[in-house]
Amino acid sequence: MPAPAPAPVGRVVATELKPSTPHQFWFQAATDAAIGIGAIVRVEGGARTVYGVVTDGLAYAPAGTSPLGPRAEAGARDAGPGETRLWLAAVLRQVPDEPLQTVPIGPVHLAGDADVRLALRMDAFTARERGTGIPVGVYAAGGLDSPVYVDGDFLLGPEAAHLNISGVSGLATKTSAVEFLLSSIFQTFPTHKGTVAALCLNVKGPDLCFLDQPGEITDEDRRLYARLGLVPEPFGDVRYYAPFKPDGVNLNTLRTNDRLAGNTGPLVWGLREVLDYAEVVLNRDDVDAKADALIDFLAERVVGHEFADPQLREQPFRVQTFADLEEFFRAIFDLLEGRRGGEVWRTHHVATIRKIRNRLGNIATRSKGLVTDDGFANDLPWGSFADRTAYVVDVAGLDPLAQDLVFARIVSQLREHLERRDLGVDHVVVFVDELNKYAPADGPDTYVRRMLVDLSERGRYLGLVLFSAQQFRSQVLRRVVGNAGTALFGRMDADELATPGYSTLSPAIKTRLATLSKGELMLRHPHFTQPVFVRFPRPAVLGGREGVERFPPATDLPFPDAVARQLRTLDRRIAADSIRDLVVGRREDDVRRALSATRRERPADVEAYFRACLGRRVGGEVIEARRPVPALRRGHDPYAP
Ligand SMILES: Nc1ncnc2c1ncn2[C@@H]1O[C@H](COP(=O)(O)OP(=O)(O)OP(=O)(O)O)[C@@H](O)[C@H]1O
Ligand SMILES: [Mg+2]
Repeated sequence: MPAPAPAPVGRVVATELKPSTPHQFWFQAATDAAIGIGAIVRVEGGARTVYGVVTDGLAYAPAGTSPLGPRAEAGARDAGPGETRLWLAAVLRQVPDEPLQTVPIGPVHLAGDADVRLALRMDAFTARERGTGIPVGVYAAGGLDSPVYVDGDFLLGPEAAHLNISGVSGLATKTSAVEFLLSSIFQTFPTHKGTVAALCLNVKGPDLCFLDQPGEITDEDRRLYARLGLVPEPFGDVRYYAPFKPDGVNLNTLRTNDRLAGNTGPLVWGLREVLDYAEVVLNRDDVDAKADALIDFLAERVVGHEFADPQLREQPFRVQTFADLEEFFRAIFDLLEGRRGGEVWRTHHVATIRKIRNRLGNIATRSKGLVTDDGFANDLPWGSFADRTAYVVDVAGLDPLAQDLVFARIVSQLREHLERRDLGVDHVVVFVDELNKYAPADGPDTYVRRMLVDLSERGRYLGLVLFSAQQFRSQVLRRVVGNAGTALFGRMDADELATPGYSTLSPAIKTRLATLSKGELMLRHPHFTQPVFVRFPRPAVLGGREGVERFPPATDLPFPDAVARQLRTLDRRIAADSIRDLVVGRREDDVRRALSATRRERPADVEAYFRACLGRRVGGEVIEARRPVPALRRGHDPYAP
């Protein structure tokens, strides 16, 4: 026997002062009804069913029954019997859709699973054969909770794309919500939509450093996972990339515990990789036709090519590294210095050459550890990205300039490969936490900001999707957050709620937003005509703080031991002592070069290969004197103010 239909919790009331309209209605409910701000309700009115979400409420009692009225002293503690409680609901959906009419005066029910599915129009994308629903959490009210799905076509493209989440630090659970959602996507992204990977930029401490490790969750979390049809487990396939510290051998990340070394590798770029994104490090004033022309010249004719110019030097240049490039620039300056009045080399003014040399040199210095001077890069696996795999690039310890470079190169590479359809996967979610730092509403128009705008405006056609988080949405460039088809809001503070971006929300919704507890979010999604409140379980991964406790970062090792540690990630059998003996007394540059050659080759006998690369023992460290660059003659600097 089917369970009896639950009794109504109230009834629509419509008066001349508070009439029902096609978009909102008032209803009266008993004081003990499980109705609150955000509750979803169903109104039955003959052939018409209307779904609404509660956005405001009010209560009153006839004069004389109020506890503040004359009878208050007589001990009228419970105003219940005399109280009238009215709720205002915004219409989510009417069935049938046409003709659109005013809300009927009928009984009001709390929404169950089927009602929530219809109210949020989830039937359109979950009920069909090739469904695209992705669970984001449960809608919970009055002891009921119903799964809420977002539409994959609107979260990851092509219809709409991108997700943004805002809320105060620590309470809004922004990073956790994205981790949970990525796991939900990996578990439920329909195969007919193709393959998907995530590229997460870890910008803050150990935040995303342990996505492959199980974290603690509660029984209630487990119940929510079950309700959503998801398995609470950490990410199965995660690859970590972190640049080196300036010493070139210790990784610049908090994920350095030996037990995690298996899927943690260095991110190292050479001159070629950097030169392609030289624009990142040039500021607005620098980017002129002259600078561009010189960079193009270097990229197309010099770096990675054999460049012959007998005027500069007899034997041709083979510029592969920053050191080679410096030698090349030096030859130009020597030539110009030697020539009386020589200020132009091959149409490039000496001031332009000097500027570009300084800017590129600046990258090498400020990004030491990310850029190498030995020409061997260790990059993300462009072309062989794998389905349901998370690639985490740890930039938390990098200088802001180097962070920009990483952003620029990674997003551009993703874009180019997705355009050519040769990345290895069809969709990539790029997760950028602390978005306000990279796409601030005010501030200089940087290359990275322009790139984030471009990603939000055009990425969805390519399958390039931006998930971003920040405390204050109002501090982020509108073109970036505004393009996020799906928006989540955790606990907000009052100042932020007073900004114009939230003016469409009722005061009651704002109050709820300001008091949300951990794990509760307000969700806006194209299919939902009103925002809805959802609750999501803790991500089943180890958090950053617990992570560094369980897997304490290895202390920075002295150079020889750090080299041994790097080699041991390739072959666990290698003894640290024998590497130390090999390395001690050698030039660090030679050792780094041998190390990266070994890393690149991945030989069967790691130690023998490394030993061969090092070659015979040479004398102690040779310190090369840096010759100063001759100063510009006064009055000839076209960039002078
Ligand atoms: N679903 C959940 N339910 C309850 N607590 C949660 C849930 N998800 C995360 N938390 C807890 O909330 C805390 C803060 O989470 P999180 O780090 O995601 O917040 P945040 O908004 O990213 O903060 P910040 O702005 O500082 O980066 C964590 O300690 C986490 O354990
Ligand atoms: Mg966070």
